[in-house]
Amino acid sequence: MSALKLTPETRIVVVGLGYVGLPLAVALAKKFNVIGFDISEQRVAELKDGFDRTEEIEKERLVASTLKVTSSVDDIKDAAVYIVTVPTPVDKKNKPDLTPVRSACEIVGPVIGKNSIVVFESTVYPGVTDEICGPILAEKSGLVCGEDFFLGYSPERINPGDKVHTVDKITKVISGQTPEVVDVLDELYCAVTTGGVFRAANIRVAEAAKVIENAQRDINIGFVNEITMIFQKLGISVYDVLEAAGTKWNFLKFTPGLVGGHCIGVDPYYLAERAKQINHDPRIILSGRAINDGMADFVAERICAQLSGNGKILVLGLTFKENCPDLRNTKAIDLIAGLKVRGFQVDVHDAAADPVEAKKFFNIDLKPDLAQLKDHSYTAVVGVVAHDSYKDIPGSEFERLLEPGGLIADIKAMWQNIEKPQYIRKWQL
Ligand SMILES: NC(=O)c1ccc[n+]([C@@H]2O[C@H](COP(=O)([O-])OP(=O)(O)OC[C@H]3O[C@@H](n4cnc5c(N)ncnc54)[C@H](O)[C@@H]3O)[C@@H](O)[C@H]2O)c1
Repeated sequence: MSALKLTPETRIVVVGLGYVGLPLAVALAKKFNVIGFDISEQRVAELKDGFDRTEEIEKERLVASTLKVTSSVDDIKDAAVYIVTVPTPVDKKNKPDLTPVRSACEIVGPVIGKNSIVVFESTVYPGVTDEICGPILAEKSGLVCGEDFFLGYSPERINPGDKVHTVDKITKVISGQTPEVVDVLDELYCAVTTGGVFRAANIRVAEAAKVIENAQRDINIGFVNEITMIFQKLGISVYDVLEAAGTKWNFLKFTPGLVGGHCIGVDPYYLAERAKQINHDPRIILSGRAINDGMADFVAERICAQLSGNGKILVLGLTFKENCPDLRNTKAIDLIAGLKVRGFQVDVHDAAADPVEAKKFFNIDLKPDLAQLKDHSYTAVVGVVAHDSYKDIPGSEFERLLEPGGLIADIKAMWQNIEKPQYIRKWQL
């Protein structure tokens, strides 16, 4: 491969303009000639109008960006670098669903040129880039992988809704099929991040590094969720225990919770699948998954155990995490189901979710405004997602919403020091 010199004219295509792809494309467009491609015409139309439904890029930045967006394959021919940021979900049996990755390769294959570099950022298990993506790109392009075009892998680490660890600040792990590819990626990513790059030993190492970052978090949360279950039965609050244990210098600070979303609750299954392919039983990884997947029902059972009769419960929070509109794979929905199956009526409010998406995905009519909810109409208010605006709800609002003897159920320890009258009960994990 002749050394590629990056210039402001270098054509870069970002494939998949979601939570990961859009911020990356906008950041790259400050330095290069960037085209963002997405198969969703609706997403492209919204972005052309300056609207990012993921709330990662504000309208002013989007409108001011030189990024061009398209859903037409004709617009993405002959770029020097293609960066693939498409989803990597699991199917109903928790098996990796590589359909979007394969489909992106089928789209990109015919348009790549000689010396194009195709970099994958989607989270996968070790081997996907070399064994699955490379061959599809070669077949669709008629070019030879590693000679005519080249592969790279650079995992994405951003967090939806996290305004601190943004794409322009985090350290990027990079890897490529040849040292020249890694040099290009070094220059490319250093142009957008002040966090610098780390050159992984090879593509599989970079793939493995990403998937274990999230599997490690899942297992640690699984441990805390398991001790939560034990301590609930012992009448001890896990938050009180964690506060005490956290005074030790090397205690790891994880908190209990519902592990949903597109990454932590999904990526361990990718690693587990790879382990199974090579006849290794991934016991710790799958135990963590099983505990975390059972947490929503456990919490529902604990809440209902404290309520007599079949009242109405107000759930605050539907998204998979705080301060972010992302509803994908949210476990709040399992908790709601757990409350309903135990005979309770459930109203749901969310300070960040799009009501149209809540209806479309879950058939839930979100309550638009807490202030409009009837006085004393709930037997319990359950804090499921720690959106900032929920942390500030005063005790008087619970007093207004709850019937006498009602329960504040605080899953995220948002209201630990709330002032409330004696006749309102409070329970936390
Ligand atoms: N969301 C995160 O914060 C995060 C963080 C780190 C890593 N990741 C990983 O990054 C990848 C992308 O995640 P995301 O959250 O941005 O997903 P997303 O669902 O927000 O966005 C993906 C976009 O890709 C588009 N798309 C799907 N198939 C396509 C195709 N064949 N060609 C072109 N576009 C296609 C979709 O229309 C969508 O707009 C996943 O592998 C994920 O695990 C995500």
